[in-house]
Amino acid sequence: MASVQHPTLTSAEYCSPEVYERERRVIFHGGWFMALRADTLAKGNRRVIDVAGESILIARDLDDRIHAYANVCRHRGARLCESDSDSTQGSLMCPYHAWTYALDGRLIATPHLDATDVDKDAMSLWSVAVHVWEGFVFVSLAKEPVLFADWMELHGQELLALERYGLGGLQVAVTTRTEVRANWKIIVENYQECLHCTRVHPELVEIVPVYRTGWVYDPERPDGGVTLKDHGNSFSITGTSSLPVLPGLDDLDATTYRGATMFPNSFVDVTGTSAIVTTMYPQGPDHTTVVTEYMFAPSTIAADGFDPSEIVDFSELVAAQDFGVCERVQRGVSSSLFTTGVLTAKDDLVIGFVEHYRRTMGTTEG
Ligand code: FES
Ligand SMILES: [Fe+2]
Repeated sequence: MASVQHPTLTSAEYCSPEVYERERRVIFHGGWFMALRADTLAKGNRRVIDVAGESILIARDLDDRIHAYANVCRHRGARLCESDSDSTQGSLMCPYHAWTYALDGRLIATPHLDATDVDKDAMSLWSVAVHVWEGFVFVSLAKEPVLFADWMELHGQELLALERYGLGGLQVAVTTRTEVRANWKIIVENYQECLHCTRVHPELVEIVPVYRTGWVYDPERPDGGVTLKDHGNSFSITGTSSLPVLPGLDDLDATTYRGATMFPNSFVDVTGTSAIVTTMYPQGPDHTTVVTEYMFAPSTIAADGFDPSEIVDFSELVAAQDFGVCERVQRGVSSSLFTTGVLTAKDDLVIGFVEHYRRTMGTTEG
């Protein structure tokens, strides 16, 4: 049988500042970027999100509408908020000369200046397109954003296939944040293959038997799902947990693991009891901030004695193993002697990602 071999991306595509600049323009700022989960943004508050080097404020006004805008004061250009922990109290005051903005971005106060000095109506914060889908808040920094539905159709088919899980009704119970010294694409590629699983994830292959074969999905299951050991319902050290199954799932989904990528910067893992959202915030060609959010049904979180630690601890263990090898790859592909690596038949999802990435970038070769 003829072997299937494709080259990986090139050293430049993993390491070069010029390629990263093009990614910022074409992908992270040119398309739709997963920014946060809506339930982590309280009414009357705002969060600061880094979209590949552009600081964006996302606010929920008192009427429950979500807005996004540049984190830049219209007066003399000061950054408005440095972090999520600055207080807002329903409005945003610039720390420099105290210009104050409503959470919908309107300029509402300019101390020591009056209407003849400043036309407030013309000085709202620079707005950014925002779209909420199933509790995921996406932003687009493009001057003329593509329709969100069109972007989703092209880049989010796997996530669309999880619509029946009712992700919009789940809540984040635990959030973790990790600085990974690797290119964001190395993290995606690692997520999409399991030739490393037996070697890198001894605990994971115990609960996902098919991963011992090197496949990252079950070739015997046309629905794309993966069966957990003993028909377990959770990513945990035993493959199961005592937490209740997500509302509305049938028996098959309750005992199935499914993973979905949402190009470019997030992926979602669902089991019977929880959904884990991983969002990448690229900081440069060789540095990615990874935020992981553990979501459960609100009734599960509200119940006495709710304890998600067996799921969180297990997933963080697997993630740390992954990030370790991703950083190792980053160090390797930085070598001047590296040309390209090799992708084989069991890397078919990675091959698909490489092709999708290059199509989106408008480059057929690295
Ligand atoms: S720069 Fe913001 S109020 Fe002056
Ligand atoms: Fe892995």
